Amino acid sequence: MKGLILSGGKGTRMRPLTFTRAKQLIPIANKPNLFYGIEDVVGAGVSEIGIIISPDTGDEVKAAAGDGSRWGVRITYIMQHEPRGLAHAVLTARDFLGDDAFVMYLGDNILSGGIGHLVEEYQRGGAAAIVLLTPVPNPQQFGVAELNESGQVVRLVEKPKEPKSDLALVGVYLFGPQIHGIIDGLEPSWRGEYEITDAIQGLLDSGQGVIAHQVRGWWKDTGRPEDLLDANRLVLSHITADLQGEIVDSQVTGEVVIEPGARINRSTVRGPAHIAADAVIEDSYVGPYTSIGRGTAVHSSEVEYSIVLDGSEIRDLPTLLDASVIGQEVQLVGPGSAKRRKALTVALGDGSRVQL
Ligand code: TTP
Repeated sequence: MKGLILSGGKGTRMRPLTFTRAKQLIPIANKPNLFYGIEDVVGAGVSEIGIIISPDTGDEVKAAAGDGSRWGVRITYIMQHEPRGLAHAVLTARDFLGDDAFVMYLGDNILSGGIGHLVEEYQRGGAAAIVLLTPVPNPQQFGVAELNESGQVVRLVEKPKEPKSDLALVGVYLFGPQIHGIIDGLEPSWRGEYEITDAIQGLLDSGQGVIAHQVRGWWKDTGRPEDLLDANRLVLSHITADLQGEIVDSQVTGEVVIEPGARINRSTVRGPAHIAADAVIEDSYVGPYTSIGRGTAVHSSEVEYSIVLDGSEIRDLPTLLDASVIGQEVQLVGPGSAKRRKALTVALGDGSRVQL
């Protein structure tokens, strides 16, 4: 069994953050999104992983994940020159995959239950593909599965205008080598992409077994900033307190991780929250579901339900910073003494400068 992790694409829905960085490297609880997928694949016993990269962000992805030795696996990078769809990514990885079965994991997805049980089920035999499904309120925006009375998949449709069920395909799949023959015969869809849903439908049409499972626990596709905040909330709700930094004249309650070298002075931190190494929180309040990046400074401000990346500075904000995603090395500086008004909500790309 091999692993194929997709970390190409354009990430247009995540702008401005993705003007300067790969969407898959945006941290969730201070760990790149992509690493959660790698760790799930490694956790299922896979030791050869291919990562699809794009010309724009490939170098950055390579620098972050390296050769895989930190996870005890081998990572091969596969350049996809244009993001022509998920099935096209499989086609691009054909030499790497050979005739092995593989687990395919979208690099911006995050799953709580792991995938070990799926790999075991595939290895017991009987299916050309295993897919994961989850009920969603807006199936029009997903690949949607139609099941028969005994729970077998009968049809898959990409972003249907009139969905026949609310069961969306999650971005984690297991495939046998049969998928390659089907992909060879695919035509691009109305949106010009080679769709993995069409390839799986091709397996069904040729009478091959496709098994569907509902997701255990939770799953998140972090395509937009609000999804990142929700994924951050979900991951932080499972952390346990680990206070390693320096805490002076401060109140730290709930599940809070404070990494070595971080300093909390005259502040309140209410978990779950994650404060990375060398961050400084001074005369401030950091509220639940917040991640503060490495070396970021928060002075005389209040931050809640937000993600702040590395090396930023938040100072003298006149209002609560809420439900915001702040890039790297951003300066967000307020006038200090003004009266607090309603919360401020922003998504700021790397290197932004905002004076309130
Ligand atoms: P998407 O989120 O569907 O596409 P995208 O990253 O281009 O984002 P947007 O729609 O905001 O422009 O892709 C899902 C994952 O698969 C993501 O991690 C990127 C990756 N991907 C590829 O590696 N190659 C591709 O051809 C496509 C379409 C996506």
